[in-house]
Amino acid sequence: MTRIKFIGHAAFELSTEGKSILIDPFITGNPAATTAADQYSPVAILLSHAHNDHVGDSVEISKRTGATVIATFELANFLASKGAKTNDASLGGTVAFDGGTVKFTPAWHSSSYEDGDQIVAPGMPAGMVVRFGGSTIYFAGDTALFGDMRLIGEEGLDVAVIPIGDHYTMGPADALRAVKFLEPRFVIPCHYNTFPPIEQDPEAFVTNVTRQTNAKGVLLAPGESFDIPAAVRGL
Ligand code: NI
Ligand code: MN
Repeated sequence: MTRIKFIGHAAFELSTEGKSILIDPFITGNPAATTAADQYSPVAILLSHAHNDHVGDSVEISKRTGATVIATFELANFLASKGAKTNDASLGGTVAFDGGTVKFTPAWHSSSYEDGDQIVAPGMPAGMVVRFGGSTIYFAGDTALFGDMRLIGEEGLDVAVIPIGDHYTMGPADALRAVKFLEPRFVIPCHYNTFPPIEQDPEAFVTNVTRQTNAKGVLLAPGESFDIPAAVRGL
């Protein structure tokens, strides 16, 4: 069984059998977060791209816990220079961590990091197909809609975590089209209502997912978790 916890914005924790990982752990300074970075002790930290609202507390958590930060090549090297333990990868590649794997997928976005008064641009933005605790979860990262989401859907997704905020990513209408390409069992929206430009109605979105697609929409408030039910296959 895999439990997925929404930390807020695009930050999630996956946990199973006493082991956990973090995805895009922007916790300190995250207006939506209800928890503190120091209460998480992951074995790995998976990053979609370099924007500060995704890298978040990665370096501090890695230094404190020894967790490996897994990210695309330039971002991994940049965070290693800041003292994080890292493993680099790139699109199409699968990387193992303690208890699971992550495969990096394309995402249509950008990837830069505000480092003090400098803006650096480390690497490619990505999505991630994560296998952990018997579940397969797709984190789209920040992205526009693209037709190759159909290929990602062929991975057999239990859950798709997709942005709905519009402005910087897909909005709700394109996110609904993405669900039809991805064909997951469950859909969890993210990347909305953290900041004024991405204000959306997530309740309407999950209702539309459940009514208009074969998936079930799951709305999580920051701090809430969803236990991913085991799939009933082969009937
Ligand atoms: Ni971004
Ligand atoms: Mn973002």
